[in-house]
Amino acid sequence: NWPEKVTIKEVGPRDGLQNEKVIIPAQSKMEWIDQLSDTGLSYIEVTSFVHPKWIPQLSDAALVAKGIKRKPGITYAALVPNQRGLESALAANIDDISVFMSSSETHNLKNINKSISDTFPILKDVIRTAANSGKTVRGYVSTVFGCPYEGEVSTDQVFRVCDQLFEYGIDEVSLGDTIGVASPRQVALFLEQAVKRYDMSQIALHFHDTRGMALANILESLNYGIDTFDSSLGGLGGCPYAPGASGNVATDDLVHMLHKMGIHTGINPEKLMKAAAMVQSFLEKPLPSHQMAVNNAQ
Ligand code: HMG
Ligand code: MG
Repeated sequence: NWPEKVTIKEVGPRDGLQNEKVIIPAQSKMEWIDQLSDTGLSYIEVTSFVHPKWIPQLSDAALVAKGIKRKPGITYAALVPNQRGLESALAANIDDISVFMSSSETHNLKNINKSISDTFPILKDVIRTAANSGKTVRGYVSTVFGCPYEGEVSTDQVFRVCDQLFEYGIDEVSLGDTIGVASPRQVALFLEQAVKRYDMSQIALHFHDTRGMALANILESLNYGIDTFDSSLGGLGGCPYAPGASGNVATDDLVHMLHKMGIHTGINPEKLMKAAAMVQSFLEKPLPSHQMAVNNAQ
C-alpha cells in the first residue's frame, strides 16, 4: 500500500543553508534555486524571513526571493515567524507561507524566544493574514520525536500543537524530527495515532538524518500513506538552535530510493545531481549524501 507518487518539498535553500558556516552570496543562491526549478521539483522553500541576527545566512531573504526566476507550476515557499516576517514575505510574493513552532517548551523558547502559549496568538494572526492574502499556509511542528533539552515529547503534546495550528487554518502540517532521533518503530506508533486524528493528505514528515535513520523512517511512513516529505539536496542542513542536529535527509538519496521502489517523484535525477554539484562548489566541501559520494568518486 505504498503511494504511487510522492511529493518532495526541497528545503535546502532554507534548512540547508541556515546551518552552513559559509554564507553563499545572494546571486549564487539565485542561480542555484533557478537550477533547482529545472529539476522537476514542484515545491522549493527558498529562504526565511526571520531576524538576521538569529540566522545571518539568510539575511538576504528579500533579495533572493525577488531575484529568482519563477517557473510556473512550482510553489516557492518561505519560513515566517511573525507579522514582520509575513509582511516581507508578502512583499516578495512568496506563494506558500510556513509558520513554525516546537512541540516542546524549551526548544520553542531557544528557537523563537517565546513560550508555546505566547507563540499561538502570533501564529494565529500570521496564518489568518496569509490566508486572507490568498496564500497557502504550512505549519512546521518541531521536536515531534524528541527534544534536545527535554528528551521525549508526548504524542498528546504534539497533537495539541497540531490541533491548534489546524484550527487557525494551516493547510498542511510538517512534523519535524529536528534532531534525528526517531526510529521506525517510534514513527509507526506515532502515525498509528495520527491516522485516526488527521487527514493523511495534510501531513508531511521532515526527518533530519543525524543518526542515519531518515530513510528508514520515511519507508515506515510510506506504510501509513504519507506521501509528502521534506528533504535537502545533498543532505545540507540542521537547526542552529538544536545542538548536534545535522542535515535533512538528502533529496538525492530519497529520490534514488523512491525511484528504485517504482514510486514516482517527477524529479529528474541527472538534473538533481547537477544542482547538487553546483551548491557543493559554492560551499567548497563535499556534501554528505550517498549519491554525492558516488558522484564525487567518479
Ligand atoms: P525576538 O528578539 O523575540 O523578537 O525574536 P521581537 O519581536 O522581540 O523583536 C526584536 C527586534 O527584532 C525588533 O527590532 C523587531 O523589529 C525585529 P528592533 O525594534 O529591536 O529594532 N524583528 C525582525 N526583524 C526581521 N525579521 C523578522 C523580525 N521579527 C522581529 N521576522 C524572532 C523573535 C522569532 C524574530 C527570532 O527569535 C527569530 O528570528 N528566530 C528565528 C529562529 C530560526 O529561524 N530558527 C531556524 C528555523 S526553525 C527550524 O529550522 C526547524 C524546522 O526545520 C523543522 C524541524 O527541523 O523541526 C522548520
Ligand atoms: Mg529542519
